[in-house]
Amino acid sequence: MPNTLVVGGQWGDEAKGKIVHRLAKDHKIVVRYNGGNNAGHTLDNITLHLMPSGILYDHTINLMAQGMVVNPEALYQEWEDVRKVTGKQVESEHLIISPNAQLILPHHIALDQAGSKKSIGTTGRGIGPAYSQKADRVGIRAGDILDESLRATVEKSVGAANVRLEKLGTETVKIEDVMKFLEDYGKNFLSQFVGDVKTVLKEAKNKDVPILFEGAQGTLLDIDAGTYPYVTSSNTLRPSAGQLGLYVPIDNAYGVFKTPMSRVGKGPFPTEWGGPNTSDTRQLIEGDTEAMKGDNRKFMEELFTKIKNGTATPLEIGAYYGHKGKEYGATTGRARRLGPLDIVLMRYAIDVNGLNGVILTKMDVYSGAPKVELCDAYIDDSGNKVADLSDLNDLQRMKPRIQELSGWDANILGVTEIDSLPAQARKYIDNVEHLAGVPVVYVSTGQKSEHLIVR
Ligand code: IMP
Repeated sequence: MPNTLVVGGQWGDEAKGKIVHRLAKDHKIVVRYNGGNNAGHTLDNITLHLMPSGILYDHTINLMAQGMVVNPEALYQEWEDVRKVTGKQVESEHLIISPNAQLILPHHIALDQAGSKKSIGTTGRGIGPAYSQKADRVGIRAGDILDESLRATVEKSVGAANVRLEKLGTETVKIEDVMKFLEDYGKNFLSQFVGDVKTVLKEAKNKDVPILFEGAQGTLLDIDAGTYPYVTSSNTLRPSAGQLGLYVPIDNAYGVFKTPMSRVGKGPFPTEWGGPNTSDTRQLIEGDTEAMKGDNRKFMEELFTKIKNGTATPLEIGAYYGHKGKEYGATTGRARRLGPLDIVLMRYAIDVNGLNGVILTKMDVYSGAPKVELCDAYIDDSGNKVADLSDLNDLQRMKPRIQELSGWDANILGVTEIDSLPAQARKYIDNVEHLAGVPVVYVSTGQKSEHLIVR
């Protein structure tokens, strides 16, 4: 049986959770290998931030591997949410956390809140500081919780954080508070799940049991290959032996791409409706905030009329698809920045991950639209056409070349057969496939896991 990877092809939020959940039906082992509760993987009735998206099935073993950063309190809350929403009590035979996974503790959150949250627009969940303490070798790992030298490890870690917090003019964190936090959520909760991830993977590999890898965030947020410095603090690409503790071959490497695509947090976004600015949320238009709160039908109707008449501004187009696609951060609630699908960046993601399949999500959002756009190349600041980028440092100099295709009237929400799609929608998919150079293997047409076309 093949091992399969599902990785975000863009800046995260591509609707990977739904795809992984669906694929997990046929997999025994589901692995997360990067990030922490900065992720938000939305399934039918629950959003998971830490546990792999196979957790709701009884037949799966879900692994949280050593590339992750885990906040024990957030894990506890998620465990509770799963219990409340689904009635399922997650037990240690279904969830195993590597002893080498780093922990996110109160001092990491304090550092994130006082630092990069403002400058980069991070999620403020302590992700960056936990990874930098790992690199600085003053982090605390899941396997340390029951170790007798825990206090000394905590003193070193909190001590290092407090020097920085003092410099930032922020309140320092007390060692006793961190010890209490570790007692409540670490020793009394998380420690029951710490186990031998590597051996589970090795046995699966030896016995040919299929493994499903669930990437968090997305390719363009990768700390090395992404739009640095506006990235997350980990590698978000195809997993490495370093992240897993073992080399595992991957047969199917699928990248998830949302159309329209989105980004939250600051940084370049060439196809952004309203311009590739550096704000960390969508630029709101009049009526947007109100429309976010309640019944936004009238507001949406007005925007849609303008789109049909061809009089909508780019910001209005972004607002329309933002509301229609419910593009608010699953983790932070921020309104996501939106723009049409960028094929140059898709090709980049295909290259760096070695993808052999593309998954298109949220196609239904375009139902009824008179035209559908995509970016097939860039024009650089000297007027030259650029079809491929070898690194992303040049992104600020690029303007998207937009291709317009005709839209379709029919509502394609929930369509499961390719032949039931309108011809224009099929043409759009064929066009993406042609420009990408790899097959489109799945097309998602709605939020529910069954809203999926398998090609
Ligand atoms: P951090 O991961 O909290 O350090 O945030 C760094 C950047 O990555 C910010 O722009 C975040 O908005 C973005 N980011 C982190 N995780 C996700 C995700 O799961 N989806 C989308 N953006 C994310």
